[in-house]
Amino acid sequence: VVLVVDFGAQYAQLIARRVREARVYSEIVPSTMPVAEMLAKNPKAIILSGGPSSVYADRAPRLDRALFEAGVPVFGMCYGFQLMATTLGGTVDNTGAREYGRTPLTVSRPGSTLFEGTPAEQSVWMSHGDACSAAPEGFTVTASTDVVPVAAFENDEKKLYGVQYHPEVLHSTHGQQVLEHFLYRGAGIQPSWTMGNIIEEQVAAIREQVGTKRAICGLSGGVDSAVAAALVQKAIGDQLTCVYVDHGLMRKGESEQVEKDFVAATGVQLKVVEAEERFLNALAGVSEPEQKRKIIGREFIRVFEQAQAELVAEAGAEGEEVAFLVQGTLYPDIVESGGGTGTANIKSHHNVGGLPDDIEFELVEPLRQLFKDEVRMVGAELGLPDEIVHRQPFPGPGLGIRIVGEVTKDRLDLLREADAIAREELTAAGLDREIWQCPVVLLADVRSVGVQGDGRTYGHPIVLRPVSSEDAMTADWTRMPYEVLARISTRITNEVPDVNRVVLDVTSKPPGTIEWE
Ligand code: XMP
Repeated sequence: VVLVVDFGAQYAQLIARRVREARVYSEIVPSTMPVAEMLAKNPKAIILSGGPSSVYADRAPRLDRALFEAGVPVFGMCYGFQLMATTLGGTVDNTGAREYGRTPLTVSRPGSTLFEGTPAEQSVWMSHGDACSAAPEGFTVTASTDVVPVAAFENDEKKLYGVQYHPEVLHSTHGQQVLEHFLYRGAGIQPSWTMGNIIEEQVAAIREQVGTKRAICGLSGGVDSAVAAALVQKAIGDQLTCVYVDHGLMRKGESEQVEKDFVAATGVQLKVVEAEERFLNALAGVSEPEQKRKIIGREFIRVFEQAQAELVAEAGAEGEEVAFLVQGTLYPDIVESGGGTGTANIKSHHNVGGLPDDIEFELVEPLRQLFKDEVRMVGAELGLPDEIVHRQPFPGPGLGIRIVGEVTKDRLDLLREADAIAREELTAAGLDREIWQCPVVLLADVRSVGVQGDGRTYGHPIVLRPVSSEDAMTADWTRMPYEVLARISTRITNEVPDVNRVVLDVTSKPPGTIEWE
C-alpha cells in the first residue's frame, strides 16, 4: 500500500486516485495518525498531500521527523513539500508572495528521478503563500519558477522527494508522469493493482464473511449497487437475493434494464416490488424539493424493509438465516463521511438506498476500497453490459426531483419521453462518455406561449442540463455541438405533447447544483 497523508484539503482523494491510476494501491490516512501507526501498515511509499495551512501557523499540522528516517520513500506535495523542507532543516519563507493557478515551471535537472523525459518548461498548478528558498542538506534542487527558487527537490539516497505544486491536478501537464516516476523509479514499486486481483481478493473476503448464511441487496439501477451485487453473486451465488423497488420515478426502460439485462448477465435471484402507486400517493400535492426527497426516502425504506421481512420469513421456513445486507458503498463515501480519516463531511446526499441506523444486518461492502472508475472496470470484468457499467449518475429520488412542481403520473410520463429522446440523441452523437450526466428537467409550474401548426400553444419548458465533471463536486456546463442540441429540441417539441420550448442550462457548479432540486 501507498499511504496518502491528508493535511486537510480536498487534494488527498485526488492523489489517492492518481496513484491507483498508476496501478498502485493507495489509502488515505489523516495527518493526525501517529507515525508509528502509519509505519505499522508497512507502506511501500508515503505521499504528503497539500493543505490549507501555512507551516508557520500556530496550529499547523506537523509530522514526526521519524517518518523521514524510516527508510520509506516519501513524496511531499505543496504543504507536504514545505513541511518536509522545514522538518529536515531547509528554509521556507513567509514571503507573502503568492502563486496561484497555472504557473510555468523550469526544470533544472531534466534527467532527475522525478523529471526524466518531461520537458524543461512545463505548466504546473500552484496554490501557496510561503515559498521554499533553500532545500535541506543532501537534497538537489531540480526545478524552480519565477517566484520560487526551490519548486522541487530530490534526495535519491534517502528516497525523499518533493514538489511545491500539485502534480495530481490535470492542469499540471506532466503531473501524472512525475507521480509515476516517484512510484516506479523513486520507490521502486511495480504496478500490480489490477481489476482481476481486486475481484479475486473480494470474492474470497465475501465468502469468508458470509459463510453459509444468506444476504440481500437493494438494487437502485445505478452502477454501484449493480457491481456490488454482481460481485457478491459471484462469491456466494444463490445465497444472495436482490430487491428492486420500482417507485415509478425511473426513466424509460430503466426497470426493464434491471429486471432483464442485469439478471441475464448475473443470473441473480431478483425480487421486484411494484410501488408506483404508493409513491405517487405519498407525493401528491407536494412541490417543495426537500419535502419530496424526504418522502421518497421514507417510502423507499418502508418498502424495502417490508421486502426484507418477507424474504427473511421465506428463508426462515427453510431454517436459513438472512444476516447480511450488501451495499455499494465506495471509497469516497467512506472518506467523505469522515470514515476515520479526519476529513470534513463535505456533503451528504440522501441516497434512496440509504438505510436507517437501527438496521439488524451486518453489512457487506465489497466496493469500499474503490473509486468510481475502478467500480466500472470491475463491472466490465464481471461481464455486466455496457449500459449498466457506463451508466451516468442518476439520483436516488429519480425523476421526482426533476419535475419542478408537483409530481404526477402524467408529468412523469411526459418527462420520461423527453428524457428518452435526449438520451437517445446524446448516445447517437457519441457524447455519453464526454458528458458526465445530462439531467432533463420539466418546469411543470411554468408555461409559455408558442405556435405549433396553425395554433397558439401554452405549454411547458424542458431544460437540458448537460454537465462535465470529474466527481460531481464541481461541474461545468458542457459545450455541446449545436446540431445535437437542435435535434434534441426539434424532436422533443414535435414528439412530446404539452412541451413547446426547450432551454439549455449554462450554469456551472457552483453556483448551480447539477440537479435542479
Ligand atoms: P448536485 O445536484 O448536488 O448533484 O450537484 C451531485 C450529484 O449527485 C447526484 N444526486 C444524488 N444521488 N441521491 C443520489 O444517489 C440523491 O439524493 C442525489 N441528489 C443528487 C446528482 O445526480 C449528481 O450526480
